[in-house]
Amino acid sequence: MNPKKVTAPAVKAMKGSARIGMITAYDYPSAKAADAAGADVILVGDSLGMVVLGYPDTLSVTVADMLHHTRAAARGTARALLVGDMPYLSYHLSVEESVRNAGEFIRAGAHAVKIEGGKPQRIKTAQAMLDAEIPVMGHIGLTPQSVNALGGFKLQGKNVDDARRLMDEAVALDQTGCFSIVLECVPTELAAMITERVSCPTIGIGAGPHCDGQVLVFHDLLGLYDNHTPKFVRRYANLGDEMRAAITHYLDEVRSGAFPNDAESFHMTNAEELRSLYGSANVVEMPKK
Ligand code: KIV
Repeated sequence: MNPKKVTAPAVKAMKGSARIGMITAYDYPSAKAADAAGADVILVGDSLGMVVLGYPDTLSVTVADMLHHTRAAARGTARALLVGDMPYLSYHLSVEESVRNAGEFIRAGAHAVKIEGGKPQRIKTAQAMLDAEIPVMGHIGLTPQSVNALGGFKLQGKNVDDARRLMDEAVALDQTGCFSIVLECVPTELAAMITERVSCPTIGIGAGPHCDGQVLVFHDLLGLYDNHTPKFVRRYANLGDEMRAAITHYLDEVRSGAFPNDAESFHMTNAEELRSLYGSANVVEMPKK
């Protein structure tokens, strides 16, 4: 791992030379762990709506929610590039409002923003953000903020027309100057063709092995979210099980009186004085030194 601080141009320059490792993180400890593990890019994803806030999808997440988590993740990030994921309706209404919202992410500590989609209006918005000196990561394929329009969380680009549309969107985002593009839930063959065609790196999630990098959601990778696990997730740990076992153990020890023990407790220097104050027989003896 190169110890140097990762920048958006550095991520772009990784195409063809090194695979990009990206993971989501939503707070100080998760960002700190991802950064220390050597992630190149940390995404404060709006997936936090599902895995942290418990919503059924990402649509309820607000700019205020995202900025709160971006600030926390920024405090835990030293080396990685921190990308703020712009939530639903924060970059859809007008170009001016979109740029202003993107700027709030930069003020919160993100080094770049990610937006979903690649239709002409979105390209204009991306261009305006780039004009405001904000690096932009694109995201096409299964774009979760479009779940209602897409009719569910489904594989995209399965037929030729849809594949052509995604290729056109990727090329447009690349030509606009996005420093990378996330490809979510598209066939391996299409992801490989897009990766070959665009000059910026592609970062896949459910897009096969030929992308320039990969991203997974923190809670999926670590087994902390089990409401739904997509086929493309590989679980590298089962921390949810460990967490439940540890909490059960703690509660058992509270109930049995095994926690806390003497080493986990504080003592007065003179328990006799306390006894004389209250005359209580319940004042425990000081341990003998
Ligand atoms: O919100 C998120 O976590 C994402 C990744 C899945 C790319 O957009």
